[in-house]
Amino acid sequence: MNQDEYITNHIDGEPPLLAALNRKAHVDLLRPRMIAGHLQGRILKMLVRMYRPQRILEIGTYTGYATLCLAEGLPEDGEIHTIEIDDEMEDFIRNQFNRSDLKNRIHLHIGNALDLIPLLEGMFDMVFIDADKRAYCEYYEAVFDKVKKGGIILADNTLWSGKVLEEPHPGDKQTLGIIRFNEMIAGDRRVEKVILPLRDGLTIIYKNSASL
Ligand SMILES: C[S@@+](CC[C@H](N)C(=O)[O-])C[C@H]1O[C@@H](n2cnc3c(N)ncnc32)[C@H](O)[C@@H]1O
Repeated sequence: MNQDEYITNHIDGEPPLLAALNRKAHVDLLRPRMIAGHLQGRILKMLVRMYRPQRILEIGTYTGYATLCLAEGLPEDGEIHTIEIDDEMEDFIRNQFNRSDLKNRIHLHIGNALDLIPLLEGMFDMVFIDADKRAYCEYYEAVFDKVKKGGIILADNTLWSGKVLEEPHPGDKQTLGIIRFNEMIAGDRRVEKVILPLRDGLTIIYKNSASL
């Protein structure tokens, strides 16, 4: 048994709907490794349980796996908005949401997050950035003023398989995007931040009361 198996054997199980989604993604889709998966999914749900956000925004839906995990932690009257640019994923995603008891808490938006974020009304308590690695800085800037003081921004894949530690190839725009993001966050005095070495790196950013 490896460490990952040991961990998943000793934490909350993957709910049957999510386990089925995980299997379906591995059979039907080209990049199933993009989904959060058992451990990260349970962590996202736990963070929502502990932090108790009322409104969450996810940038990058893919199959809806993480959306369902985040929605699972929400209170009855909480809501999550999730944005996916790939309209070919829409039927797959809606199908998954429709199977869930949580569907009334979920609002799917199809389009480019950079176009849609300015159109979203209201403030968010939590944002999960998990879309195009080249544009993390732009998502962060687009969303920052829509996050309440005391709110949290999570950013996934911020260690990018360790590539952030190496000299990036000038053509590797994804690694360059993540490095640019990590440097921007490190220098942003409006927020407190940690990087958890979880899976591919998960940054937790806290918008403290000193931020404008
Ligand atoms: C890593 S996957 C998301 C995985 C999902 N959050 C999860 O953990 O289950 C990234 C998704 O972001 C989408 N994406 C990329 N650029 C985007 C953009 N500008 N706006 C919205 N979605 C985008 C991709 O099509 C892809 O489905």
